[in-house]
Amino acid sequence: MDFDGKTLYNTAGDDLSPTVTRDGEVVPNQCGELCELYQLILRERRHSWTTHLRLLKKLGSGGQGVVYLTERRGSDGFTLPVALKVFSPERYATPNHYDSDMSRMGRVAAKVARIQHENLLVVENFLDRDRIRMMVMEWVEGFDLRRLLTPKMFGAVKERFSERRWKHINEVLVTAGPEQPRFKAGVAVAIVRDCLEALAAMHRQGIVHGDVKPGNIMLKRSGHAKIIDIGSAFDTADPPQRRACTPSYAAPEVLEGIENTQRSDLASLGYVTLELLAGKPVFGGINDLAELIQAKRTLPERLGDFVPADVARNDLLMAFCRGLIAPDPNQRFPSAEAADLLDVGAAAFHRQLVKNDLASEYENDIRIWIDELLEIEAVSPGFITDLDTD
Ligand SMILES: Nc1ncnc2c1ncn2[C@@H]1O[C@H](COP(=O)(O)OP(=O)(O)O)[C@@H](O)[C@H]1O
Ligand SMILES: [Mg+2]
Repeated sequence: MDFDGKTLYNTAGDDLSPTVTRDGEVVPNQCGELCELYQLILRERRHSWTTHLRLLKKLGSGGQGVVYLTERRGSDGFTLPVALKVFSPERYATPNHYDSDMSRMGRVAAKVARIQHENLLVVENFLDRDRIRMMVMEWVEGFDLRRLLTPKMFGAVKERFSERRWKHINEVLVTAGPEQPRFKAGVAVAIVRDCLEALAAMHRQGIVHGDVKPGNIMLKRSGHAKIIDIGSAFDTADPPQRRACTPSYAAPEVLEGIENTQRSDLASLGYVTLELLAGKPVFGGINDLAELIQAKRTLPERLGDFVPADVARNDLLMAFCRGLIAPDPNQRFPSAEAADLLDVGAAAFHRQLVKNDLASEYENDIRIWIDELLEIEAVSPGFITDLDTD
């Protein structure tokens, strides 16, 4: 018997090695054929097999297609929930346009797949089924910020919490704002710092996300934030011919068609930050493009009035927000890393809270809250996710 290698035993303590029994008697190996198949698998360097995916539930849909919670089935009862995005050809003029955009998308997906950052969506595969492209991604268990920030959802879940717990949530995490729930500054900045880390990882690889907004940021069960939806992402070395953006969250230089760079992502994240802090979208109700650009250009002058008074009084937090949303990209933080680490960056704000004993365990607080919301969703399916289905 090889005492250094692994030996199989059953619970009765018998040695299950194929050729030797306990008292040393050699018995014929009945796995010969199987062993040959095993050797064949090892010898062949190419394998292909069919994957069984079962679309279980729509998670969201938009201009680009539909995302489904999907079960991937392996053998012997193995199943794994994944997310599957099916890219629609509907907005393309010709099949060739779809094909060429999709092959660029596939290249971006391949680059993102290699990043594997805790705060960035993990991309697992990019597939072609009868020419329709699909992307397999990790399924992020949690809620995107657009869903979390609807007043309806916030009002609806209140009755599911004890009075004491609800008070605590409102004191440390999130509370009713003028138009939608607003996060406490420490928690908002914790979420934004996670996003900055994800952006820094993408930006280092030359990728611009291109569509940072609440619907593309998820709070996970672990308490971390995760940037999702790489549908508008592009490699600066391989830019797309046409770009899609969400005007309310796009940087002014993007709306003006001048450039779309890593710093444009920072402006978008800045608008999200302000929305989280203020409990209202920064550019709500503006439907005219020229007016929207003007509002983005004049935002720094109006910042103090936009945010709640306690935020406006905090010079460090205001400087951080200004560094993200400066209309001129050259006046913004030079990079996502700098936005976290410079002396007026997000980390400095968190340090200030710690010094003044105002810090809480943000990730832990978020984790427990998301867990509670998932529990509500599990008991009453659709209670949260169906409140605003589009
Ligand atoms: N990997 C994922 N895990 C869990 N939910 C997801 C995932 N990807 C997308 N979603 C949900 O589906 C919604 C739409 O997906 P998204 O990729 O943003 O597509 P689009 O905005 O182009 O419609 C998201 O806002 C999110 O709620
Ligand atoms: Mg999206």
